[in-house]
Formats: sequence, C-alpha cells, structure tokens
Amino acid sequence: MKEKIIIFDTTLRDGEQSLQSSLQIKDKIKIALALDAMKIDIIEAGFPISSPGDFKSVQEICKNIKYSTICSLARCVKKDIQVAAKAMSKLEHFRIHLFVGTSKLHIESKLKKNFEEIQDMAIKSIKIAKKYTDDIEFSCEDAGRTNIDELCKIVEILIKNGVKTINIPDTVGYTLPNEFSQIISNLYNRVPNIDQAIISVHCHNDLGMAVGNSISAIQSGARQIEGTITGIGERAGNAALEEIIMIIKTRKKLLNCFTNIKHKKIYHTSKIISKICNISIPLNKSIIGKNSFSHSSGIHQDGVIKNRKNYEIMSPQDIGLKKIQLNLTSRSGRAAVKQRMKEIGYSEKNYNLKKLYKKFLKLADKKGQIFDYDLEELAFIKKNNKKNKYFKLKNLKISSTVSKKTKIFIKLYFGKKIKKIKIKTKNGQINGIYKALKKITKINVLLKNFQINSVRKGKNYFTKIKILMKYKNKKFYETNLNKDLTKAFVQAIIKIFNNIWKSKQIKKLYKK
Ligand code: KIV
Ligand code: ZN
Repeated sequence: MKEKIIIFDTTLRDGEQSLQSSLQIKDKIKIALALDAMKIDIIEAGFPISSPGDFKSVQEICKNIKYSTICSLARCVKKDIQVAAKAMSKLEHFRIHLFVGTSKLHIESKLKKNFEEIQDMAIKSIKIAKKYTDDIEFSCEDAGRTNIDELCKIVEILIKNGVKTINIPDTVGYTLPNEFSQIISNLYNRVPNIDQAIISVHCHNDLGMAVGNSISAIQSGARQIEGTITGIGERAGNAALEEIIMIIKTRKKLLNCFTNIKHKKIYHTSKIISKICNISIPLNKSIIGKNSFSHSSGIHQDGVIKNRKNYEIMSPQDIGLKKIQLNLTSRSGRAAVKQRMKEIGYSEKNYNLKKLYKKFLKLADKKGQIFDYDLEELAFIKKNNKKNKYFKLKNLKISSTVSKKTKIFIKLYFGKKIKKIKIKTKNGQINGIYKALKKITKINVLLKNFQINSVRKGKNYFTKIKILMKYKNKKFYETNLNKDLTKAFVQAIIKIFNNIWKSKQIKKLYKK
C-alpha cells in the first residue's frame, strides 16, 4: 500500500531567515494562506523567541490558518519553549519544534558542552514542551555529520521521552544521497523504538543535493520531508518542496508513496513567495521556472505538437499553469508557426505558410522571440505600408517640481487627425505617461513589465527600454533605444499601441 509523505514547509522560518530583511506580518499571512490552500501538512510559522515581530506574526498566522498544523521553533531553552507555546496558544493543536546540535563539531565548538549534557538538555526541554502539546518534533541539528552511534543513541532517548517526530537535518548540505539514505536505514535498523516515531528529513542545498538527499531518505523510510516552496533558506537554501511534491507524483509507482498536496496550486504559491520575498525564479528552475514547460527547438516543438509526452513528463496543468508554451524563435520549425497561427484563429487558407515562415525566420533572427501580433503582421501586412503606423507622437511636454504634481501634455496623431490630452499626476512621469496614453487612445492595456538598461555607444549612453503589455489576453512586447528615458518609454508604448491597432485591423479582415 502506498504510504503518505508528510510535507513540512519552513518558508516562514528557515526561508525568512535567509532574506535580506524580515517580512511584514501581512506578507507572512499571505504566504501562510497560500501554503494552507495547498494543503501543506505542517507550516513552520516562525521562531517566536527571535523577535517580538516574529512572535506576533506566529500569533496572527494561527488566527488565519484552516487546514495546516502550525509549528514554531524553539531551542532547548525554557523561555524559548514557553514563548513558542504562548504564540500558538489560541490553537487547540500545535507543534513545538525543538532542536540542538548533535555533531561533535556543534557540541564542542558551538555549544561548548559534551554529549551527556546535550542529552540532558534535550530531555528537560521535551518535559517542558509536553506541558503545552503532545505534538513535539525534535531536530538533531547537523545530523548529517553526527557520529552514527551517537545519533542512534540520542534518537532512542528522544523517542523514549515522547517525541513523535524525529528530524534528521543535513544542516550544511554535506552528505551524498547514498550516505544520507544509509543514515536513515541505520536509524531504522538500530534504534529499537523507531516504530513509535516518524522520521523526518531537512536537507540544505549547499552542494545542490537537497532534493536528491530527501528523495533517497524517502526510499529508506523517511515519512516527513521539510523544505520550502522555491527552495529559499539559509545559504544555498532548503530542499525545494515543489520538486519533492512533483517527484513523488510523477514517480509514484517507483517510490510507492503519495502526498495530500494540492499540486495545482504550486505555481500560484511560488509566484506569491517570489514576489513577497523579492527573489527571482531562474528561467530553468525545475517545475516553476518559466522554461520548465516551454519548448524552443524545432525538433522538440514538432515532437510535442505530435504528442506532448515526447518531451514532457508532467503537464503544466499539474502545477496550475494553463498549457505548454512554444517559444517562437529562430530555432522553431514550420510546424510550430502553423500551430500557433491555428491557435490564434487563422486557417492556412488565409495565408501562405511558406512565405510566412521565411519572413518569420528573418524577424526572429533580429528580434529573438516572436509574438502573435508579429505573426499576424508578417502574414497579412505588406512591408512599408504607411497605414502600419496609426499613432504617432506630435508633441510631449512634461513639467514637474519636487513639491508639485507632474503635468503631462501629449499631442498624438490618430491617422491624419490630432488629439491632445493634459493630465496631472502625483505618481511620476512614467506612470503619468502610461495613464495619459491609455486614456487618449482608449486602449485598455496592462503594463506587465518594463526593464531599463543602459547601452553605451561611443561616448554616449542610451536608455534601452523593454516593455511587455497585455491587451485582451494577448502579449505585446517592444523595445526602444533613446538618449532620453522618457522618450524611450513613450516611443515603446506607441509602438505597442500601433501593434494593437494593426492586430485589430487584421483580425477584422482575416479571422476565419
Ligand atoms: O538546518 C537545520 O538544521 C535547521 C534546524 C533548526 C532544523 O534548520
Ligand atoms: Zn535548516
């Protein structure tokens, strides 16, 4: 029978610990709610003794969470345990997570104690924690480098004293997968009362093996995995839970286990965490990276069009994404271009695929990625057609002083006609221009992203602006280079508005 793997998330404790500045309570609640909605089994909400802010945030999280068990960290110190229990006291059920270093290195050089003293500290603190809850987890910090005889000994004592979950952290991410699974197997084979507790693992990623070590621990009998969504945590981070969850789902037959996690919420949760914690997710990050479900080369694109399983072992829907993405670049083949044209509503009867593909390759070499509106333009609009530029800037005036609102005045050609707009804003030039152009053109776009870079040409610096906008579910992307930042921004937006306008005209004429 398949066995359940308990998923323990420490984004709000180990993850938060690694950020440049601590998170605000409202943001911690947002993250906790997302984790709760994913049905994470245990949420480690904080380390309440560490600061009044952390204490308060654990209290607030307790008020908001419906499904997950809330847990707080405490050293083997009376005050730590009391404060952790107090922070969660409104809950009927909660977990206290105690820890102490068990490796020779930690015991001697960090704690300045001996092994017997560590055992005593552990037993005393378990007794105190038991007054508040029967759900006690105990971590043998630096277990990965702890002498195995001593690890077996202390684990036996912890269980004898009533600990329900024994956590085996690879605190410094040092072990190799087969070494780590040996540690877990040793505990199962040598600790006589091991059947009375759940073995958990908590792996750090210093050598990039946190997920691999966690999975090998599952294969040796661990039944709780600790980590964080996106993998944030001390130094190189913790095991990325989204990877663990999807490995368990994708390789369930081999691993013979399951989780209760709502995996369709993975992507959404990772977005919330990356936004709040201000960490960008690398394009090639497993599961949640932008490229994880997008195909670039012509051979791969052709393969997935024929049968997505040719190049996909999971579906994007599994993590809450809509569908696979074919990145249209110069490496794409004709099949991908034809497929995209079909998806955006054009039948091959309306255009010439051979000609379109030739133009596509030329533009892709210059532009990099090709968007839907580019395809429409290549397929349907003749080069040098003056009608391509409907909007054109006639005049732009901006006046701002430190204390007053910014005044923006724009005159814009609409074909041969000229329209003008004047606005005042407290939000600065960029926001003001964006607002004014939306208002005057009545094109209700959404500015998704813009990036500013400097480019040096000879002695001069130029501003290179890249803008991504969304209009009626379609992406529009433009770049512009100008010595003046504001002008670069205005011109890029106007290019996008022209592309939207063209796309509308084409749609009227050619859509099947
Ligand atoms: O990495 C570690 O050992 C920890 C413990 C407190 C569980 O974070
Ligand atoms: Zn840790």
